[in-house]
Amino acid sequence: MEKLLVIGSSGLLGQRLTDLGKDKYEILGTHNKHSPEKESVHLDVTNKENVISVVQRFKPDVIIDTHHLPNADYCETHQRDAWRINVEGTKNVAEVAGMYSCKYVFISTDNVYDGEKIKQYTEKDKAHPINYYGKTKLMAERVIETLNNDFIIARTAVLFGPHKGSIVAKLPFPNWLIQELRHNKEVRVVRDQYNNPTYADSLSEFLFALLKKSRSGTFNVVGKENLNRYDFSIKIADIFGLNKKLIRQINSAELNQPAKRPKKLALDISKAERATGLVGLSIEDSLKKFKASL
Ligand SMILES: NC(=O)c1ccc[n+]([C@@H]2O[C@H](COP(=O)([O-])OP(=O)(O)OC[C@H]3O[C@@H](n4cnc5c(N)ncnc54)[C@H](OP(=O)(O)O)[C@@H]3O)[C@@H](O)[C@H]2O)c1
Repeated sequence: MEKLLVIGSSGLLGQRLTDLGKDKYEILGTHNKHSPEKESVHLDVTNKENVISVVQRFKPDVIIDTHHLPNADYCETHQRDAWRINVEGTKNVAEVAGMYSCKYVFISTDNVYDGEKIKQYTEKDKAHPINYYGKTKLMAERVIETLNNDFIIARTAVLFGPHKGSIVAKLPFPNWLIQELRHNKEVRVVRDQYNNPTYADSLSEFLFALLKKSRSGTFNVVGKENLNRYDFSIKIADIFGLNKKLIRQINSAELNQPAKRPKKLALDISKAERATGLVGLSIEDSLKKFKASL
């Protein structure tokens, strides 16, 4: 069995990868500030010696790196931290992966695109981030490409899925919405930001399939449908049987967010579908699977 190191197994995607991959790989997960319930080792990507020592001991064939400094607004106002963790941290892991001949899988974001294109973005479109979070993730991608080792970059968006414990620093949007509506709280949701929400289990399956088929390079890997946050919220309320009247639609300008948000991030996933033989999930199927998993 191949060995897989999952960096960030205390986070949402990292948890799903370690759960879903256990019959495919011998897995070691890592945490930084939040120790998960399951076995994992401490690893801080900003400390290269720490990365070397974990990789030297475990000897992985593959490293899936899910670390990031989350929250675009926080990155906008804490740019030095964002650079250190999102760019320098990635460089450390990518270099160590190269030193020990591990395949390196990096999770990037739809925020590397500017959101001005009317049609769907393909991997061939020019990346042009408009917020600092997107800039750091794109710079991390460039570092990985320059090292010229075997890598997969998966650009994803608005992740959601089951997660355990008080591990994730900020709840994923759908998880937060369900929590608020269940407590009968009114929520304000923007109508003018479009993405392809992505079920973390589906992203995990795409990553495993890309690895199994020995693919390399950059792939958009998101859910099949593009919709604005308000419409997404209504679908969530529908599937979970929650009160839609509590959802109030607003425009982004009303939120005064420090980080600019791209208007319409619609991603074409046909390259990943062709490479894996899988198909992206619809919103309805994603939410039904999510509900069933809770
Ligand atoms: N969530 C989204 O909507 C979204 C959208 C687009 C792209 N992505 C990308 O998808 C990936 C996974 O996202 P996610 O939502 O699963 O993340 P998450 O739940 O916020 O988890 C992030 C993980 O990174 C770890 N981490 C943070 N700083 C670290 C450091 N210095 N050294 C080592 N580990 C560190 C955290 O560990 P501790 O908690 O233990 O500190 C945590 O396990 C990220 O790369 C992100 O850029 C996410």
